[in-house]
Amino acid sequence: MIIAQIADTHLGATDADDLTFRVRAENLQACITDINSLNPLPDAVIHTGDLTQHGQPAEFAHARELLAALNAPFYITPGNRDGRDGIAEAFAKEEYMKTDGSFVHYAVEAHLVRLVAMDSLGEPGEPKGEFCPDRLARLDATLAEVPQKPTAIFMHHPPFDVPTAPDPFAYQRREAVADLAAVISKHPQVVRIFAGHMHRPWTAEIGGVAASTVPSVATNLRYGEYPDEMAEQPIYQLHRFDSDFGFASETRLTEKVST
Ligand SMILES: [Fe+2]
Repeated sequence: MIIAQIADTHLGATDADDLTFRVRAENLQACITDINSLNPLPDAVIHTGDLTQHGQPAEFAHARELLAALNAPFYITPGNRDGRDGIAEAFAKEEYMKTDGSFVHYAVEAHLVRLVAMDSLGEPGEPKGEFCPDRLARLDATLAEVPQKPTAIFMHHPPFDVPTAPDPFAYQRREAVADLAAVISKHPQVVRIFAGHMHRPWTAEIGGVAASTVPSVATNLRYGEYPDEMAEQPIYQLHRFDSDFGFASETRLTEKVST
């Protein structure tokens, strides 16, 4: 199974005539073009949050318009910029988007690796993340439903420190991550955790499971050290799963965006 992971697109509305937002739309289009050119196509594309800049309906409409060009199934988890209601409403018609109005939490059973979307949002307006007892109980129950199948969890806030970031810890409470680790370590089928939010790549381990973040697709929001000639090239990652060897991840550079 091949998963393409994109994150932190921070899109504006279709009519945002600001150059910044035109570049971000083209950043996402460059990723979609690259993903669609792959042979074989990824089995799934996951977006680990901050699809939009302000969580506005017009921004979600723009995002959906762009994402319609994808030739692979698409799944998303909310970022702090999006808000959970914005994501739930924008993708309400998608079969996978099962939400009871409280959290965006769902599992996708259609692939070799089971995908579990985890809502890591904190209080409304709070950029940092949180795992409340309700969400942790839901995760525990969801993982207990299918204990034998390799499972990847994807969320916005990375549940580990990213020491190169100005603020390395993405959660409101440090205990939130320990609580998550306690749930994950009960379910050995969890083989990988994918996150966004930091706009830079990092890898770590939580509850005995490999976890990682990806650079932002938005090139004008990307952090980290890159050669100057890469400045206009959006980045995303491919995660290839093999039943014997687990996940191997690859970073993809797309064509330059020349707006
Ligand atoms: Fe972001």
